[in-house]
Amino acid sequence: MNTPKETALEQRAIEGAKMYSPSVARNRDVIRDAFLRTMPQEGRLLEIGAGTGEHAAHIASALPKLQWFTGDPDETARASIAAWIADMKLDNLHGPHALDVTAKDWDGALAAPYDAVLSINMIHIAPFEAAQGLFAGAGRLLRSSGKLFLYGPFSREGVHTAPSNEAFDESLKSRDPRWGVRDLDRELVPLANENSLALEEVVEMPANNLSVIFRKN
Ligand SMILES: C[S@@+](CC[C@H](N)C(=O)[O-])C[C@H]1O[C@@H](n2cnc3c(N)ncnc32)[C@H](O)[C@@H]1O
Repeated sequence: MNTPKETALEQRAIEGAKMYSPSVARNRDVIRDAFLRTMPQEGRLLEIGAGTGEHAAHIASALPKLQWFTGDPDETARASIAAWIADMKLDNLHGPHALDVTAKDWDGALAAPYDAVLSINMIHIAPFEAAQGLFAGAGRLLRSSGKLFLYGPFSREGVHTAPSNEAFDESLKSRDPRWGVRDLDRELVPLANENSLALEEVVEMPANNLSVIFRKN
């Protein structure tokens, strides 16, 4: 295993095409447990912006009745996802797709409905158009009572929940002014409501992150 140039916001180890994310190693169990407690355990799930593919491999291996469709618009990420899928040999883990939620009608070719949509650590490391595209697509793709699961840092009512999140927001914006920690109450809940989704649950996670679950009306 060697260490490639920095990708995104961390140094990832790489073995063949398979990438290992240090942040996934830290948070994959708590995210899986929040998912298991709040999300559908069977049916079909679409994952957006899967990065290395490790969350998909980890959670899908715990839920054999959930058909998990994963992918990422980034080619290197897709190679890693494909390698994880090949390694895991799970009947319920599929992909990688190359869906970019900022593309017009990005979900148009998918066979709706889905029971769940999930995106981990994506909408703050992308322009706000990615959040808009994700919610619009989730609104179209999810069946009634289907759920959207987001994980990451969020501010609440216009206020950062911790100094570390404020510093992270500043560092994101210094990399790209279109990036930044999103406000759950002022930006995302209105966006969800415009797309027939309602906030269902907010789960406090380690390191001032949240898992946020929306339900399709
Ligand atoms: C910080 S990484 C997180 C990866 C993984 N979900 C995790 O938590 O380890 C953000 C990912 O979102 C993807 N992404 C960025 N913009 C996107 C978009 N418009 N549509 C879909 N994925 C996007 C990037 O390619 C990247 O792999």
